[in-house]
Amino acid sequence: MSEYWFSQPEFEGKALELLNVLPTPEFVQNFELDEKDFINAGKAAAKIKNALKQLGVVPAVLRRVAIAVYEAEINIIAHSKGGKIKCSYYHNCILIVFDDYGPGMEDIEQSIFPGYSTADELVREMGFGAGMGLPNIKKNCDILHIISEKGKKTILEILIYFG
Ligand SMILES: Nc1ncnc2c1ncn2[C@@H]1O[C@H](COP(=O)(O)OP(=O)(O)O)[C@@H](O)[C@H]1O
Ligand SMILES: [Mg+2]
Repeated sequence: MSEYWFSQPEFEGKALELLNVLPTPEFVQNFELDEKDFINAGKAAAKIKNALKQLGVVPAVLRRVAIAVYEAEINIIAHSKGGKIKCSYYHNCILIVFDDYGPGMEDIEQSIFPGYSTADELVREMGFGAGMGLPNIKKNCDILHIISEKGKKTILEILIYFG
């Protein structure tokens, strides 16, 4: 198993602890994504953004959430056999867990390198495969945690604070 952690400077060294102390969420939304189902790409990002908008979250944060969720959603559709999204809402943050059915990443550090992409012909025809999704997720979240390995599933967790 290979694991990757990233946190913005203000959360450096605290990521694991912050994820571990999360209380019971105030509410949860679940989504399913199918392999190569580009028609439904972006639906989870839009619904999560709307829910946060209702809660009065500022536009700058809504934008970060929408970008990070959209890119992770596209990655499940483009690069995996499908998967699930679980979005947990807390009073000052949101945790989104992307859990797919494989085939995993050979090397997480390589995958996250700007411009790196294994996108196939179909994915490129759909306009994806620039290799900027994971770098964009990293840029827009406060804490990013990825667990992946070749031949296994990928779990990607994003934590974003809004309060
Ligand atoms: N859920 C996933 N399962 C397997 N591989 C993935 C997944 N998400 C990303 N990857 C790998 O990481 C690479 C880079 O992803 P990304 O930065 O989003 O660029 P792109 O999607 O344009 O290829 C992908 O090409 C793929 O090899
Ligand atoms: Mg991508």
